[in-house]
Amino acid sequence: MSETQETLNLYEGFKLMRDHAPVTQLEADGPWQVARHADVHAILRDHATFSSAVSVRPPEERGAPSMLFSDPPIHNRLRKLVSVAFKPSQIQRQEQQIRARCKEFLDAIPLHTEVDLVQALAAPLPVMVIAEMLGVEDGDMAAFKAWSDEIFSNIGEILFGTPSAASEQAAAEMNAYFLQQINDIRANPKDHLLGQSVATETEDGMLDDEELLSFCRLLPIAGNETTTGLITASARIFQEQPQTFAQLKQQPELSASFVEEALRFYSPFSATVRRTTHAVEIAGQSIAAGELVVPLLASANRDERVFDEPDKFKLDRSPNPHLGLGFGIHVCLGAHLARLEGKIVAEQMAERYSSVTLANPQTATVGELGGPKVLPVVVA
Ligand code: HEM
Repeated sequence: MSETQETLNLYEGFKLMRDHAPVTQLEADGPWQVARHADVHAILRDHATFSSAVSVRPPEERGAPSMLFSDPPIHNRLRKLVSVAFKPSQIQRQEQQIRARCKEFLDAIPLHTEVDLVQALAAPLPVMVIAEMLGVEDGDMAAFKAWSDEIFSNIGEILFGTPSAASEQAAAEMNAYFLQQINDIRANPKDHLLGQSVATETEDGMLDDEELLSFCRLLPIAGNETTTGLITASARIFQEQPQTFAQLKQQPELSASFVEEALRFYSPFSATVRRTTHAVEIAGQSIAAGELVVPLLASANRDERVFDEPDKFKLDRSPNPHLGLGFGIHVCLGAHLARLEGKIVAEQMAERYSSVTLANPQTATVGELGGPKVLPVVVA
């Protein structure tokens, strides 16, 4: 199937669902898929009815709860303790370093030659940014990336089934590595995010080792592939919308609104999951207690009930109430960072290239969590 067909099918499928079956089970006993913006928004706002504690594995097997898969009061405590390190002023401190890293990666990409953009930029940039936040040394970067890839690719089984031996092994190695780091930090305090998280104390106390480890595992899962997806989506938009690319070259100050529209148009975090705490009705559909519900963020973001000409990429779209970074108490904690990385990549690519061409559009699948694993491009 060609790239265009695949993309059309995905978004046409979402449109059919929004128009004819806005709350539906694609398989008998499967999760309920929710396609319209208003319903997705309502679910994300109502954490009392739609729980994030979705895992079916017994608590003793799960380890400390991660913020993403927990409800208040556990969620409040975890989020509050690490939020300090994600404030815009803290993220701003990373800007020069992210710019320098991005420039290094782009300097290494030859012109007029086919290169895999995922390997060359879209995967390593977010990994390095998060690794620096967690104090991972350059020499440990490959292991860090391998662990987080293994855990990410197994996330469904980790939550709902039996995780593979390889992902259990990756989690165990990652835990051992970060436990050592945490002990070192306690002896020699550090200023990076993990250092701040170890030291932060509020009226809720401090994070214990298990909670810190759960956070170290969550960050690469939440922040790596998603940001990779934003970068590959940007490249795809540059090819599909040469006029947008040209406009960005002329007006780099539009790169922030480019990122917002890219998050809407090709949402890298295409869907999330919740479990109903009691029987509920969504858009006239009754759903029993304990059912899984999948808010389709990528579909909500193309809803014609909210967005004018939703299948058009509009650089100046305003307002742009997309749900690409979530909404409610679980709204993306790394949102400032994700936006900053997306903006730097868009600015630097527009500044140095006159065109970005996908060499093999078939591989450019969209709509999957995180986007394509390989994206051959030719830049000129
Ligand atoms: C373009 C890149 C990104 C996208 C599209 C994205 C999207 C999202 C979305 C949709 C959620 C909410 C999920 C839900 O409600 O179930 C979320 C949560 C989260 N994100 Fe991001 N994210 C991105 C980058 C990042 C980065 C770079 C980090 C950190 C370094 C990060 C850390 C988190 C964390 C910790 C949560 C859980 C927050 C909570 O449960 O309170 N994300 N993200």
